[in-house]
Amino acid sequence: MDLYEYQARDVFESYGVPVLPGIIADTPAEARAAAEKLGGVVVVKAQVKIGGRGKAGGVKVAKTPEEAEEHAKNILGLDIKGHIVKRVMIAGGARIAQEFYFSVLLDRANRSYLSLTSYEGGMEIEQLAVERPEALARIEVNPIKGIDLDEAKHIAVAAKFPADLIDKVAPVIVKLYEVYTGEDATLVEVNPLVLTEEGNIIALDGKVSLDENAAFRHPNHEALEDKAAADPLEAKAKASDLNYVKLDGQVGIIGNGAGLVMSTLDVVAYAGEKHGGVKPANFLDIGGGASAEVMAAGLDVILGDPQVKSVFVNVFGGITACDAVANGIVKALEVLGSAANKPLVVRLDGNNVEEGRRILTEANHPLVTLAAGMDEGADKAAELANA
Ligand SMILES: Nc1ncnc2c1ncn2[C@@H]1O[C@H](COP(=O)(O)OP(=O)(O)OP(=O)(O)O)[C@@H](O)[C@H]1O
Ligand SMILES: [Mg+2]
Repeated sequence: MDLYEYQARDVFESYGVPVLPGIIADTPAEARAAAEKLGGVVVVKAQVKIGGRGKAGGVKVAKTPEEAEEHAKNILGLDIKGHIVKRVMIAGGARIAQEFYFSVLLDRANRSYLSLTSYEGGMEIEQLAVERPEALARIEVNPIKGIDLDEAKHIAVAAKFPADLIDKVAPVIVKLYEVYTGEDATLVEVNPLVLTEEGNIIALDGKVSLDENAAFRHPNHEALEDKAAADPLEAKAKASDLNYVKLDGQVGIIGNGAGLVMSTLDVVAYAGEKHGGVKPANFLDIGGGASAEVMAAGLDVILGDPQVKSVFVNVFGGITACDAVANGIVKALEVLGSAANKPLVVRLDGNNVEEGRRILTEANHPLVTLAAGMDEGADKAAELANA
């Protein structure tokens, strides 16, 4: 889960990372009031979970509360790369002397943590990494040892910070790493980290991604979730504890086991090429215990997607045998009643497959077609989606 900048700012503040005051506003009038409260020069900043806000006109300096109101009027409702601005943050204005970059992230490829630091800010980090890789210090962080003050100094030296800044920036790096581990984040990025004219180091813009697998350790993280912005189908699936990802296609997919579901997406996409270019509509893994309830919840989510024209259920019976899955499908269709209104292609294999097929054949549901194999099922589902 990615946080908004204002949420990252709050988290930073609670860990003692130096930040500027910030007040959120949902209307121009609120923006004006916030600017009055802060006093002096402020910056009106679009709160969207996408970079490049500055260049898109989403970050504007205001010298007076009237000006802040005017900027908020222009920024609220702005479309920044497909993200509509619904909220702004009024931040205190910094007198920036220099801009730097720091991030720490989960490095999946190396099964470790990685810190990225640069003394040269004011440039997009992706661009810097390509054009001037020597200006970006990439230092692996040992997850056991973490970043203590010595390691933070080592990082700052590697990033070519001058001697007089090392002692200023290192404690901030230590605190940012505390945010990273303390909140179970997969990314903490500060761009820019700045040196002010007054000589202070401040995290001016923060990006934090939290590891949802660790949510159970952080009951306070739920409140950070933006329920309104989430896809309604994904939210519904989450409420039923389903592993569902909405995709842009017409063939709904249900399978058991992430690997099987991924392969099913591939075969359906391949089969779709012969049937008007239809594509998989989603990823949905109902896991090991494919009970009637889980099957019903999964079908309910998929059939609620107006883009879906057919559904391919591809289950390999293991500990949960095919007869249980077949009974699950039959009961799910009963539960859903008239809400089940799109053709279903079912492919069963594995443990007790004969009995599973018999149950479905006997139920003889008008929407259900049995497929002998995975390729055949994918082809049939794609054909039905294109009909
Ligand atoms: N509180 C502030 N005071 C003064 N200047 C600021 C403030 N916040 C942002 N800025 C200036 O605006 C720039 C862009 O702001 P920020 O980094 O928050 O947005 P961004 O979405 O990352 O934008 P971009 O991708 O265009 O850099 C900063 O690099 C900084 O120069
Ligand atoms: Mg930024």
